[in-house]
Amino acid sequence: MKTPALSVSNLRIWFESGSNRNHAVDNISFNILPGEATGLVGESGCGKSMTALAILGLLPAAGIKTSCSSIKVNGIEISRLSQAQRRDILGRDIAMIFQQPGTALDPVFTIGSLIGATYRRHFGGSKQVIRQAVCESLESVGFKDPGQIAATYPHQLSGGMRQLAMIAMATICKPAVIIADEPTTSLDSATRSIILQQLARLQKSHQTAVLMISHDLGVIRQNCNQVLVMYCGRLVEKTDSQHLFAHARHPYSAGLVSCIPQINVQQGSSLASIPGQVPTADRLPPGCHFAPRCTRARPVCDEAAPELDDAQGVGVACFRPLS
Ligand SMILES: Nc1ncnc2c1ncn2[C@@H]1O[C@H](COP(=O)(O)OP(=O)(O)O)[C@@H](O)[C@H]1O
Ligand code: SF4
Ligand SMILES: [Mg+2]
Repeated sequence: MKTPALSVSNLRIWFESGSNRNHAVDNISFNILPGEATGLVGESGCGKSMTALAILGLLPAAGIKTSCSSIKVNGIEISRLSQAQRRDILGRDIAMIFQQPGTALDPVFTIGSLIGATYRRHFGGSKQVIRQAVCESLESVGFKDPGQIAATYPHQLSGGMRQLAMIAMATICKPAVIIADEPTTSLDSATRSIILQQLARLQKSHQTAVLMISHDLGVIRQNCNQVLVMYCGRLVEKTDSQHLFAHARHPYSAGLVSCIPQINVQQGSSLASIPGQVPTADRLPPGCHFAPRCTRARPVCDEAAPELDDAQGVGVACFRPLS
């Protein structure tokens, strides 16, 4: 069997408040094979970004605690690295595309020097080699005039162009794993499709594994093989993408799928939605955290939290799943 490009085992993230541990992420495990894309979906506040940052070791140290059995990239343990060792793998073996390119691109450097620095740190090379790599990388995300773009500062570019530059920076070293946290949110459709095409190209050409975090299930349906549905820091369903959209088994997954706008919905008719809101980590209901919002809830659902049995690679954490 292939070694997963990314393997996460028993990841937990919590905030301590007095003697309480408030879990933002609670015991999640998953694998992504080389060349495959996995979607991580769930409403805002479910713990998706925290998961991404924890995998990369980028969570702020103050106030946030993490634990895991292991996090491996191509079979190599990365969860217990020193800061210096971590810098060696970030960008080369695993890279992240953030939702807010504005804050990820240092405004005092040109786009070319920012992207070139990532390449130089991992591969070295003459100025000419680095310039060539930067231009190729900018071209690969659709810039027709890469030399000119390389000479600009982040604030001189539009939001969409900054996001494309950040994709160029994240992909210049052709990492084994890319984590993309809402990479296309609030972008126009042309920029969105360039970004998704570039990720798909890397998946094919370099067997890059992609963890795609998005609240846009349309993006997930088109681009991901596997889907992880997260609610209140727990994985509630793990399945393949086709199956999720045809036969979601967890009531929360089914609710998310029914929220996708349908092209053929008649004007004036309301869209299905999930009533209520995601509770914060310090106010999780006992038992199944989804119970207060679930139309299938029964008393048993308040008594214990259902476990995800994914021994076969797919599974659902629910006492009364949809069949
Ligand atoms: N610094 C923090 N202190 C306390 N709680 C936080 C902090 N950052 C995030 N959280 C909480 O952690 C949970 C997960 O947040 P996040 O991973 O950002 O969700 P998502 O990306 O799915 O929208 C949320 O309940 C959020 O309120
Ligand atoms: S365990 Fe119960 S409350 Fe939770 S999702 Fe399943 S049916 Fe709903
Ligand atoms: Mg987020």
